Amino acid sequence: MKNILYISSSARKYSETSSQHQSISRMLGEQFLTKFSSCIHEVEITHRDLSVKQPAFIDEAFIAAAFAKGVLSEEQRLVLAESDEIIKEVTNADIIVIASPMYNYGMPAVLKAWFDLAIRVNKTFSFDLARGDKPLEPILSGKTLVLLASWGEFAFKKGESQYHLNHLSSHIEQLAPYLGAETFYEIASEYQEFGDDRHKRSKQRAIDDVHKLAQILSAK
Ligand SMILES: Cc1cc2nc3c(=O)[nH]c(=O)nc-3n(C[C@H](O)[C@H](O)[C@H](O)COP(=O)(O)O)c2cc1C
Repeated sequence: MKNILYISSSARKYSETSSQHQSISRMLGEQFLTKFSSCIHEVEITHRDLSVKQPAFIDEAFIAAAFAKGVLSEEQRLVLAESDEIIKEVTNADIIVIASPMYNYGMPAVLKAWFDLAIRVNKTFSFDLARGDKPLEPILSGKTLVLLASWGEFAFKKGESQYHLNHLSSHIEQLAPYLGAETFYEIASEYQEFGDDRHKRSKQRAIDDVHKLAQILSAK
């Protein structure tokens, strides 16, 4: 049995039947899940749609509760409840699939809010100054993180000329270990804002790559 946690975060929707102004990252997510499920039947998918159920922003009470020592008060337990639920989903997952648009060269606010609840001290990472200048260590391990992205411009992939402007992929890759992900894959559709042939080709290449990756990961 493979457990997939699917996180979608575009403000736009996607449905197979309509073709206008559809979320491309959601489309790639659907393609991945459909292909994966056709290759392996024993798969359980948990879908957390961050635009439908927006995660809370962390605040002072959250930080105090997350770092509290000893037995938590009822109030502190309540403050951490959403984070607990999210961490449980992350812990149960073998593969975490994040479908994300690029907004202002980074991730959407709802996705950052999700990460702030998902990555928590003594739950997904430990902090120990005895380790010297690198006190953080992941607690979870063995997972795979797949980022399925879409952006309007282009040349944002690793090794390309505008990669330094892409704070979406690099940020998520940097956070991956703190979700227990030891392997990171990224597939992106580019040129959405141009709506030309380059966009058409890029989108089709992304779909093909998503199918290939789903097949590879389902065989593992
Ligand atoms: C608020 C907003 C900000 C955006 N910022 C960028 C950006 O910084 N760079 C870029 O290449 N595209 C940007 N875009 C274009 C989106 O990344 C593009 O439309 C992408 O396809 C959105 O993902 P989706 O199709 O899954 O909704 C932005 C779009 C919106 C709505």
